[in-house]
Amino acid sequence: MRRITLSRYLIEEQREKGRINADLRLLIEVVARACKRIAIAIGKGGLGEGVLGDAGSDNVQGEAQKKLDVLSNEIFLEANEWGGHLAGMASEEMELPHAIPNRYPQGEYLLLFDPLDGSSNIDINVSVGTIFSVLKCPEGADPTREAAFLQPGSAQVAAGYAVYGPTTLLVLSVGDGVACFTLDRELGSFVLTREHLQIPPDTREFAINMSNQRHWEAPVQRYVGELLQGSGGPRGRDFNMRWVASMVADVHRILTRGGVFLYPLDARMGQQGGKLRLLYEANPMSFIVEQAGGSASTGRQRILDVRPAALHQRVPVILGSRNEVERIVAYHGER
Ligand code: AHG
Ligand code: MN
Ligand code: MN
Repeated sequence: MRRITLSRYLIEEQREKGRINADLRLLIEVVARACKRIAIAIGKGGLGEGVLGDAGSDNVQGEAQKKLDVLSNEIFLEANEWGGHLAGMASEEMELPHAIPNRYPQGEYLLLFDPLDGSSNIDINVSVGTIFSVLKCPEGADPTREAAFLQPGSAQVAAGYAVYGPTTLLVLSVGDGVACFTLDRELGSFVLTREHLQIPPDTREFAINMSNQRHWEAPVQRYVGELLQGSGGPRGRDFNMRWVASMVADVHRILTRGGVFLYPLDARMGQQGGKLRLLYEANPMSFIVEQAGGSASTGRQRILDVRPAALHQRVPVILGSRNEVERIVAYHGER
């Protein structure tokens, strides 16, 4: 069997397909290495120093940080600073973009990331992950200011996520479909285990935090209400529900066996616009989902077309199996 490591996959994307250049290849390799370090820290759990528990601080969005949120953010910054492939970085855990120190050369890419997704699951030993997005720094833009990062998701040149679960996985797209790599823990390398992932267009499974039901808008109330009526309702069949509360795990299930994921607008959110973050969560996941033949929408607009107004902007997210997402979008139009 031909064993294709992440390095070899990337070399082939560069040399044979001309999809990526040497800098983007290095960037993805460095991101993968940082994910390995995070996986090792998570694997230590209660045996490690400073892995489990609260950090005792809040991030820019007023959310309590876990020790692992802070540690993962530091691992990402440190790993990506010195390679010369980046112009700048932005993270869910930092108020402002992170400048590349002067002592290192600067590259043309911008890296945006959610260093630890699913924080509420860290202490209970349930899958968490890391999400990343890569943009080009616009000509003449200052990568230390947020304006350089305010590009629509359709401008992403690569995106991916790691899942730290029973196995550590890296799911990646450089705009040439979606590939999944499994970490070989003995060798310490990511090995290609699935290629050309495709989300089935139809599904009988949905993912939403039902405890927020009373706060949803009418189109989402209608959609979920119809699913819950099962075979006796308008859909004429039963639907199953799953909610891990780690977006990486919920999206990974959808990439594996289909499904639809919703984190919709909520009456309590007011001007906030949603829960999930456009630049660190919604955009990279939507890029992956579309590359796998699925759809991603706010309910009113394709997520990848949203023009960001702020670094930490939030949006409603509805993504997964194409026909279900289209139905929910249609319900929004009928209001
Ligand atoms: P993060 O840990 O990066 O803040 O993200 C958590 C997100 C996402 O992973 C998940 O889908 C959602 O929040 C869960 O929210 P609820 O706890 O409201 O269900
Ligand atoms: Mn997250
Ligand atoms: Mn996070």
